[in-house]
Amino acid sequence: VNWKKYQPVPAPRIHTVTIEKVGIYGEGIARTLTGETVFVPFAHVGEVCEVQETRRRRHFIETRKLRTLVEGRDRVEPVCPLFTRCGGCQLQHMDYGAQVEQKRQVLQVFVRKKLGLEMTVQADPCPRPYGYRRRVRLRQFGGKVGYFRSRTHEFLDVRSCPIAVSEINAWLQDSRNFPRPREDVDLSIDVQADGQIKTYEGSDQRQMGFQQANAWGEARLRELICEDLHGAHKGILELYAGSGALVLPWFKPEEQGFRYLGVDGDEVNVRRGRELYGSESVSFERGMLPGWLTLKLAEQPQALDAYDVLVLDPPRGGTNLRPKTVKALATLQRIIYISCDPLSWTRDAKLLLEHTHLRLRRLHMIDMFPQTRHFEIYSLFR
Ligand SMILES: C[S@@+](CC[C@H](N)C(=O)[O-])C[C@H]1O[C@@H](n2cnc3c(N)ncnc32)[C@H](O)[C@@H]1O
Repeated sequence: VNWKKYQPVPAPRIHTVTIEKVGIYGEGIARTLTGETVFVPFAHVGEVCEVQETRRRRHFIETRKLRTLVEGRDRVEPVCPLFTRCGGCQLQHMDYGAQVEQKRQVLQVFVRKKLGLEMTVQADPCPRPYGYRRRVRLRQFGGKVGYFRSRTHEFLDVRSCPIAVSEINAWLQDSRNFPRPREDVDLSIDVQADGQIKTYEGSDQRQMGFQQANAWGEARLRELICEDLHGAHKGILELYAGSGALVLPWFKPEEQGFRYLGVDGDEVNVRRGRELYGSESVSFERGMLPGWLTLKLAEQPQALDAYDVLVLDPPRGGTNLRPKTVKALATLQRIIYISCDPLSWTRDAKLLLEHTHLRLRRLHMIDMFPQTRHFEIYSLFR
Protein backbone atom coordinates (compact mmCIF):
# COMPACT_ATOMS: atom_id res chain seq x y z
CA VAL A 1 0.00 0.00 0.00
CA ASN A 2 1.29 3.40 -0.87
CA TRP A 3 0.39 5.16 2.37
CA LYS A 4 1.57 8.49 0.97
CA LYS A 5 -1.59 8.50 -1.15
CA TYR A 6 -3.70 8.36 1.99
CA GLN A 7 -2.16 11.28 3.85
CA PRO A 8 -4.95 13.22 5.63
CA VAL A 9 -5.76 16.54 3.97
CA PRO A 10 -4.21 19.25 6.19
CA ALA A 11 -6.79 21.36 8.02
CA PRO A 12 -7.09 24.86 6.51
CA ARG A 13 -4.73 27.20 8.33
CA ILE A 14 -6.18 29.81 10.60
CA HIS A 15 -4.46 33.07 11.61
CA THR A 16 -5.22 35.96 13.91
CA VAL A 17 -4.21 39.19 12.16
CA THR A 18 -4.46 42.96 12.54
CA ILE A 19 -5.43 44.84 9.37
CA GLU A 20 -2.72 47.39 8.50
CA LYS A 21 -4.18 48.93 5.36
CA VAL A 22 -6.85 48.56 2.69
CA GLY A 23 -5.70 47.63 -0.81
CA ILE A 24 -6.71 48.50 -4.35
CA TYR A 25 -9.44 45.83 -4.40
CA GLY A 26 -10.96 47.13 -1.16
CA GLU A 27 -9.55 44.18 0.81
CA GLY A 28 -7.86 44.45 4.22
CA ILE A 29 -4.14 43.69 4.16
CA ALA A 30 -2.32 42.18 7.14
CA ARG A 31 0.66 40.02 8.04
CA THR A 32 0.80 36.63 9.71
CA LEU A 33 3.16 36.00 12.64
CA THR A 34 5.71 34.64 10.13
CA GLY A 35 5.49 37.81 8.02
CA GLU A 36 3.38 36.47 5.14
CA THR A 37 0.93 38.91 3.55
CA VAL A 38 -2.74 38.03 3.82
CA PHE A 39 -5.71 39.61 2.08
CA VAL A 40 -8.98 39.73 4.01
CA PRO A 41 -12.14 40.83 2.17
CA PHE A 42 -14.44 43.29 4.00
CA ALA A 43 -11.96 44.00 6.79
CA HIS A 44 -10.97 47.45 7.91
CA VAL A 45 -7.81 49.16 9.20
CA GLY A 46 -7.16 48.41 12.88
CA GLU A 47 -9.50 45.43 12.92
CA VAL A 48 -8.21 42.28 14.61
CA CYS A 49 -9.76 39.19 13.05
CA GLU A 50 -9.47 35.48 12.77
CA VAL A 51 -9.08 34.37 9.16
CA GLN A 52 -8.95 31.07 7.35
CA GLU A 53 -6.71 30.53 4.32
CA THR A 54 -8.66 29.93 1.12
CA ARG A 55 -5.82 30.07 -1.40
CA ARG A 56 -2.03 30.33 -1.25
CA ARG A 57 -0.47 32.48 -3.96
CA ARG A 58 3.21 33.13 -4.56
CA HIS A 59 3.38 36.47 -2.74
CA PHE A 60 0.25 36.50 -0.60
CA ILE A 61 -2.48 34.38 0.95
CA GLU A 62 -6.20 34.83 0.24
CA THR A 63 -8.41 34.31 3.25
CA ARG A 64 -11.95 34.60 4.50
CA LYS A 65 -12.85 36.20 7.77
CA LEU A 66 -14.12 33.80 10.43
CA ARG A 67 -14.78 36.39 13.14
CA THR A 68 -13.87 39.88 14.20
CA LEU A 69 -12.12 40.01 17.57
CA VAL A 70 -11.63 43.80 17.78
CA GLU A 71 -13.47 46.33 15.57
CA GLY A 72 -11.37 48.65 13.40
CA ARG A 73 -11.36 52.46 13.19
CA ASP A 74 -13.99 54.28 11.10
CA ARG A 75 -16.21 51.23 10.99
CA VAL A 76 -19.90 51.84 10.22
CA GLU A 77 -22.89 49.54 9.90
CA PRO A 78 -23.40 48.59 6.21
CA VAL A 79 -26.70 49.94 4.86
CA CYS A 80 -27.46 47.02 2.56
CA PRO A 81 -28.52 43.64 4.00
CA LEU A 82 -26.85 41.94 1.02
CA PHE A 83 -23.45 43.57 1.65
CA THR A 84 -20.60 40.96 1.40
CA ARG A 85 -22.88 38.57 -0.50
CA CYS A 86 -23.61 40.82 -3.48
CA GLY A 87 -20.67 41.51 -5.81
CA GLY A 88 -21.38 45.24 -6.21
CA CYS A 89 -20.00 46.97 -3.08
CA GLN A 90 -16.78 46.34 -1.16
CA LEU A 91 -16.62 49.29 1.26
CA GLN A 92 -20.01 49.83 2.91
CA HIS A 93 -18.44 48.91 6.28
CA MET A 94 -16.13 51.95 6.08
CA ASP A 95 -17.07 55.47 7.07
CA TYR A 96 -17.43 57.50 3.86
CA GLY A 97 -14.58 59.90 4.69
CA ALA A 98 -12.27 56.91 5.24
CA GLN A 99 -13.33 55.41 1.89
CA VAL A 100 -12.40 58.61 0.08
CA GLU A 101 -9.03 58.85 1.82
CA GLN A 102 -8.32 55.18 1.13
CA LYS A 103 -8.97 55.62 -2.61
CA ARG A 104 -6.95 58.85 -2.68
CA GLN A 105 -4.07 56.97 -1.04
CA VAL A 106 -4.23 54.17 -3.62
CA LEU A 107 -3.65 56.70 -6.39
CA GLN A 108 -1.11 58.65 -4.34
CA VAL A 109 1.01 55.52 -3.85
CA PHE A 110 0.92 54.75 -7.59
CA VAL A 111 2.02 58.29 -8.42
CA ARG A 112 4.86 58.24 -5.91
CA LYS A 113 6.10 54.68 -6.41
CA LYS A 114 5.49 53.99 -10.09
CA LEU A 115 5.82 57.48 -11.58
CA GLY A 116 8.34 58.84 -9.06
CA LEU A 117 6.35 62.08 -8.62
CA GLU A 118 5.69 63.98 -5.42
CA MET A 119 2.42 65.51 -6.69
CA THR A 120 -0.49 65.47 -4.22
CA VAL A 121 -3.68 63.80 -5.42
CA GLN A 122 -6.80 65.93 -4.89
CA ALA A 123 -9.90 64.08 -3.70
CA ASP A 124 -13.44 64.92 -4.84
CA PRO A 125 -15.91 63.11 -2.54
CA CYS A 126 -19.37 62.43 -3.90
CA PRO A 127 -22.02 64.55 -2.13
CA ARG A 128 -24.42 61.55 -2.29
CA PRO A 129 -22.54 58.45 -1.14
CA TYR A 130 -25.77 56.40 -1.57
CA GLY A 131 -28.55 56.68 -4.15
CA TYR A 132 -26.26 57.89 -6.95
CA ARG A 133 -26.11 55.08 -9.53
CA ARG A 134 -28.29 55.77 -12.55
CA ARG A 135 -27.42 52.65 -14.53
CA VAL A 136 -27.45 49.07 -13.25
CA ARG A 137 -27.04 45.68 -14.81
CA LEU A 138 -29.29 42.95 -13.46
CA ARG A 139 -30.23 39.36 -14.11
CA GLN A 140 -33.76 38.10 -14.43
CA PHE A 141 -33.97 34.55 -13.10
CA GLY A 142 -37.12 32.50 -12.62
CA GLY A 143 -39.26 35.64 -12.86
CA LYS A 144 -37.23 37.50 -10.20
CA VAL A 145 -34.73 40.29 -10.72
CA GLY A 146 -31.35 40.49 -8.96
CA TYR A 147 -27.57 40.51 -9.05
CA PHE A 148 -24.95 37.80 -8.90
CA ARG A 149 -23.42 36.77 -5.60
CA SER A 150 -19.89 38.03 -5.06
CA ARG A 151 -17.32 36.08 -7.18
CA THR A 152 -19.90 33.57 -8.44
CA HIS A 153 -22.62 33.14 -11.01
CA GLU A 154 -25.14 32.45 -8.30
CA PHE A 155 -28.36 34.47 -8.46
CA LEU A 156 -29.19 36.89 -5.63
CA ASP A 157 -32.73 38.24 -5.32
CA VAL A 158 -32.47 42.05 -4.91
CA ARG A 159 -35.38 44.00 -3.37
CA SER A 160 -33.58 47.31 -3.40
CA CYS A 161 -30.10 48.62 -4.07
CA PRO A 162 -29.06 51.48 -1.78
CA ILE A 163 -26.41 52.82 -4.18
CA ALA A 164 -28.92 53.11 -7.04
CA VAL A 165 -31.05 56.23 -7.64
CA SER A 166 -34.64 56.22 -6.34
CA GLU A 167 -36.09 55.68 -9.84
CA ILE A 168 -34.26 52.35 -10.13
CA ASN A 169 -35.38 51.29 -6.65
CA ALA A 170 -38.98 52.12 -7.53
CA TRP A 171 -38.59 49.98 -10.65
CA LEU A 172 -37.18 47.08 -8.59
CA GLN A 173 -40.17 47.33 -6.25
CA ASP A 174 -42.64 47.45 -9.14
CA SER A 175 -41.05 44.44 -10.76
CA ARG A 176 -41.99 42.44 -7.62
CA ASN A 177 -45.59 43.65 -7.61
CA PHE A 178 -46.10 42.74 -11.24
CA PRO A 179 -44.28 39.44 -11.74
CA ARG A 180 -42.12 39.37 -14.84
CA PRO A 181 -42.02 36.61 -17.47
CA ARG A 182 -40.10 33.54 -16.30
CA GLU A 183 -37.57 33.54 -19.11
CA ASP A 184 -33.99 34.14 -17.84
CA VAL A 185 -32.31 37.17 -19.32
CA ASP A 186 -29.71 39.85 -18.57
CA LEU A 187 -31.14 43.32 -18.36
CA SER A 188 -29.92 46.88 -17.84
CA ILE A 189 -31.82 49.80 -16.41
CA ASP A 190 -30.87 53.28 -17.34
CA VAL A 191 -32.20 56.53 -15.90
CA GLN A 192 -32.00 59.27 -18.46
CA ALA A 193 -31.29 62.97 -17.84
CA ASP A 194 -35.06 63.72 -17.80
CA GLY A 195 -35.66 61.04 -15.10
CA GLN A 196 -37.21 58.56 -17.53
CA ILE A 197 -36.40 54.89 -17.05
CA LYS A 198 -35.29 52.77 -19.96
CA THR A 199 -34.80 49.02 -19.75
CA TYR A 200 -32.78 46.97 -22.20
CA GLU A 201 -33.07 43.19 -22.24
CA GLY A 202 -30.69 40.63 -23.75
CA SER A 203 -29.19 41.70 -27.06
CA ASP A 204 -31.05 45.06 -26.87
CA GLN A 205 -28.34 46.10 -24.39
CA ARG A 206 -26.08 46.72 -27.39
CA GLN A 207 -28.33 49.69 -28.19
CA MET A 208 -27.71 51.42 -24.85
CA GLY A 209 -24.67 53.50 -25.70
CA PHE A 210 -22.40 54.78 -22.95
CA GLN A 211 -23.50 56.88 -20.00
CA GLN A 212 -21.42 57.74 -16.89
CA ALA A 213 -22.95 55.90 -13.91
CA ASN A 214 -23.02 58.92 -11.57
CA ALA A 215 -24.52 62.24 -12.74
CA TRP A 216 -22.55 64.23 -10.15
CA GLY A 217 -19.27 62.58 -11.28
CA GLU A 218 -20.05 63.42 -14.89
CA ALA A 219 -20.72 67.07 -13.95
CA ARG A 220 -17.45 67.20 -11.97
CA LEU A 221 -15.50 65.85 -14.96
CA ARG A 222 -17.12 68.51 -17.16
CA GLU A 223 -16.14 71.27 -14.69
CA LEU A 224 -12.50 70.16 -14.63
CA ILE A 225 -12.32 69.82 -18.43
CA CYS A 226 -13.91 73.26 -18.80
CA GLU A 227 -11.18 74.79 -16.58
CA ASP A 228 -8.40 72.99 -18.41
CA LEU A 229 -9.57 73.87 -21.92
CA HIS A 230 -9.15 77.54 -21.08
CA GLY A 231 -6.69 79.14 -23.49
CA ALA A 232 -6.79 76.36 -26.10
CA HIS A 233 -7.51 77.78 -29.55
CA LYS A 234 -7.30 75.18 -32.33
CA GLY A 235 -9.32 72.09 -31.69
CA ILE A 236 -10.18 69.12 -29.51
CA LEU A 237 -9.63 65.51 -30.44
CA GLU A 238 -11.54 63.21 -28.13
CA LEU A 239 -10.72 59.49 -28.20
CA TYR A 240 -13.06 56.96 -26.57
CA ALA A 241 -15.48 59.87 -26.81
CA GLY A 242 -18.79 58.05 -26.34
CA SER A 243 -21.31 60.55 -27.74
CA GLY A 244 -19.21 63.53 -26.58
CA ALA A 245 -21.11 63.89 -23.28
CA LEU A 246 -18.13 65.25 -21.32
CA VAL A 247 -17.41 68.17 -23.65
CA LEU A 248 -20.18 69.02 -26.08
CA PRO A 249 -23.15 69.73 -23.76
CA TRP A 250 -21.38 72.88 -22.53
CA PHE A 251 -18.73 73.67 -25.15
CA LYS A 252 -19.81 74.97 -28.54
CA PRO A 253 -16.79 74.61 -30.84
CA GLU A 254 -18.35 76.68 -33.66
CA GLU A 255 -18.77 79.71 -31.36
CA GLN A 256 -15.06 79.59 -30.48
CA GLY A 257 -13.78 78.93 -34.02
CA PHE A 258 -12.75 75.46 -32.84
CA ARG A 259 -13.05 72.04 -34.39
CA TYR A 260 -13.97 68.90 -32.51
CA LEU A 261 -13.51 65.31 -33.59
CA GLY A 262 -14.85 62.47 -31.42
CA VAL A 263 -13.76 58.88 -32.05
CA ASP A 264 -15.50 55.87 -30.52
CA GLY A 265 -15.77 52.21 -31.38
CA ASP A 266 -19.49 51.89 -30.66
CA GLU A 267 -21.82 52.74 -33.53
CA VAL A 268 -24.63 53.72 -31.12
CA ASN A 269 -22.47 56.37 -29.43
CA VAL A 270 -21.23 57.76 -32.73
CA ARG A 271 -24.76 58.00 -34.13
CA ARG A 272 -26.03 59.69 -30.96
CA GLY A 273 -23.10 62.15 -30.95
CA ARG A 274 -23.78 63.10 -34.57
CA GLU A 275 -27.52 63.51 -33.94
CA LEU A 276 -27.04 65.65 -30.83
CA TYR A 277 -24.07 67.81 -31.74
CA GLY A 278 -23.05 67.25 -35.39
CA SER A 279 -22.21 70.52 -37.22
CA GLU A 280 -19.58 71.91 -39.54
CA SER A 281 -17.17 72.10 -36.60
CA VAL A 282 -18.21 68.92 -34.79
CA SER A 283 -17.75 65.49 -36.28
CA PHE A 284 -17.65 61.89 -35.05
CA GLU A 285 -15.88 58.90 -36.50
CA ARG A 286 -16.37 55.29 -35.66
CA GLY A 287 -12.96 53.73 -35.08
CA MET A 288 -11.39 51.00 -32.99
CA LEU A 289 -8.51 52.30 -30.90
CA PRO A 290 -5.57 52.31 -30.74
CA GLY A 291 -5.61 51.04 -34.38
CA TRP A 292 -7.53 54.08 -35.65
CA LEU A 293 -4.88 56.47 -34.34
CA THR A 294 -1.93 54.41 -35.56
CA LEU A 295 -3.44 54.22 -39.04
CA LYS A 296 -4.34 57.91 -39.09
CA LEU A 297 -0.78 58.89 -38.22
CA ALA A 298 0.67 56.49 -40.79
CA GLU A 299 -1.54 57.95 -43.55
CA GLN A 300 -1.27 61.54 -42.40
CA PRO A 301 1.70 62.25 -40.09
CA GLN A 302 0.49 65.84 -39.52
CA ALA A 303 -3.05 64.72 -38.55
CA LEU A 304 -2.72 65.96 -34.98
CA ASP A 305 -1.62 69.48 -35.98
CA ALA A 306 -5.25 70.59 -36.22
CA TYR A 307 -5.72 70.01 -32.49
CA ASP A 308 -4.14 71.41 -29.38
CA VAL A 309 -6.05 69.32 -26.86
CA LEU A 310 -6.53 65.57 -26.66
CA VAL A 311 -9.20 64.20 -24.32
CA LEU A 312 -9.03 60.47 -23.58
CA ASP A 313 -11.42 58.37 -21.50
CA PRO A 314 -10.62 54.73 -22.29
CA PRO A 315 -12.27 51.69 -20.72
CA ARG A 316 -10.65 49.81 -17.82
CA GLY A 317 -7.84 48.28 -19.91
CA GLY A 318 -6.37 51.67 -20.89
CA THR A 319 -5.19 52.72 -24.35
CA ASN A 320 -2.58 50.07 -25.29
CA LEU A 321 -0.74 52.81 -27.18
CA ARG A 322 2.72 51.94 -28.48
CA PRO A 323 5.65 54.26 -27.65
CA LYS A 324 5.86 55.35 -31.32
CA THR A 325 2.26 56.59 -31.30
CA VAL A 326 2.76 58.22 -27.90
CA LYS A 327 5.75 60.16 -29.30
CA ALA A 328 3.47 61.54 -32.02
CA LEU A 329 1.23 63.00 -29.30
CA ALA A 330 4.07 65.35 -28.34
CA THR A 331 2.75 67.95 -30.81
CA LEU A 332 -0.30 68.46 -28.57
CA GLN A 333 -0.28 71.17 -25.94
CA ARG A 334 -2.45 69.32 -23.43
CA ILE A 335 -3.75 65.88 -22.81
CA ILE A 336 -6.69 65.36 -20.49
CA TYR A 337 -6.66 61.70 -19.51
CA ILE A 338 -9.68 60.32 -17.64
CA SER A 339 -9.60 56.76 -16.38
CA CYS A 340 -11.47 54.34 -14.14
CA ASP A 341 -8.46 52.13 -13.48
CA PRO A 342 -5.32 53.21 -11.58
CA LEU A 343 -3.22 50.36 -13.02
CA SER A 344 -3.80 51.13 -16.70
CA TRP A 345 -3.74 54.89 -16.04
CA THR A 346 -0.30 54.58 -14.40
CA ARG A 347 1.00 52.51 -17.31
CA ASP A 348 -0.19 55.09 -19.85
CA ALA A 349 0.94 58.06 -17.72
CA LYS A 350 4.42 56.54 -17.57
CA LEU A 351 4.50 56.29 -21.38
CA LEU A 352 3.37 59.91 -21.75
CA LEU A 353 6.00 61.15 -19.30
CA GLU A 354 8.76 59.10 -20.92
CA HIS A 355 7.98 59.82 -24.56
CA THR A 356 6.65 63.39 -24.62
CA HIS A 357 7.63 66.76 -23.13
CA LEU A 358 4.26 66.88 -21.34
CA ARG A 359 4.22 66.90 -17.53
CA LEU A 360 1.52 65.90 -15.07
CA ARG A 361 -0.05 69.16 -13.85
CA ARG A 362 -3.29 68.12 -12.21
CA LEU A 363 -4.55 64.92 -10.66
CA HIS A 364 -7.93 64.22 -9.04
CA MET A 365 -9.49 61.13 -7.51
CA ILE A 366 -13.19 61.62 -8.26
CA ASP A 367 -15.34 59.31 -6.18
CA MET A 368 -17.69 58.31 -8.95
CA PHE A 369 -18.56 54.97 -7.27
CA PRO A 370 -18.97 55.37 -3.45
CA GLN A 371 -19.24 52.15 -1.40
CA THR A 372 -17.28 50.28 -4.08
CA ARG A 373 -13.55 50.01 -4.59
CA HIS A 374 -13.79 51.88 -7.90
CA PHE A 375 -13.06 55.53 -8.60
CA GLU A 376 -12.40 57.87 -11.50
CA ILE A 377 -9.09 59.57 -12.23
CA TYR A 378 -8.89 63.00 -13.82
CA SER A 379 -5.44 64.03 -15.02
CA LEU A 380 -4.03 66.89 -17.03
CA PHE A 381 -0.69 66.63 -18.83
CA ARG A 382 0.70 69.92 -20.18
C1 LIG B 1 -15.35 55.11 -20.28
S1 LIG B 1 -16.29 55.30 -21.75
C2 LIG B 1 -16.09 57.02 -22.06
C3 LIG B 1 -17.19 57.68 -22.81
C4 LIG B 1 -17.29 59.21 -22.76
N1 LIG B 1 -16.08 59.83 -22.31
C5 LIG B 1 -18.46 59.65 -21.89
O1 LIG B 1 -18.23 60.07 -20.76
O2 LIG B 1 -19.60 59.55 -22.35
C6 LIG B 1 -15.28 54.51 -22.89
C7 LIG B 1 -15.75 54.57 -24.32
O3 LIG B 1 -14.76 53.92 -25.13
C8 LIG B 1 -15.42 53.18 -26.15
N2 LIG B 1 -14.47 52.11 -26.49
C9 LIG B 1 -14.15 51.03 -25.76
N3 LIG B 1 -13.17 50.34 -26.36
C10 LIG B 1 -12.86 51.00 -27.49
C11 LIG B 1 -11.92 50.80 -28.53
N4 LIG B 1 -11.07 49.76 -28.52
N5 LIG B 1 -11.87 51.69 -29.53
C12 LIG B 1 -12.70 52.75 -29.56
N6 LIG B 1 -13.62 53.01 -28.60
C13 LIG B 1 -13.69 52.15 -27.58
C14 LIG B 1 -16.74 52.73 -25.56
O4 LIG B 1 -17.70 52.58 -26.58
C15 LIG B 1 -17.07 53.89 -24.61
O5 LIG B 1 -17.90 54.83 -25.24
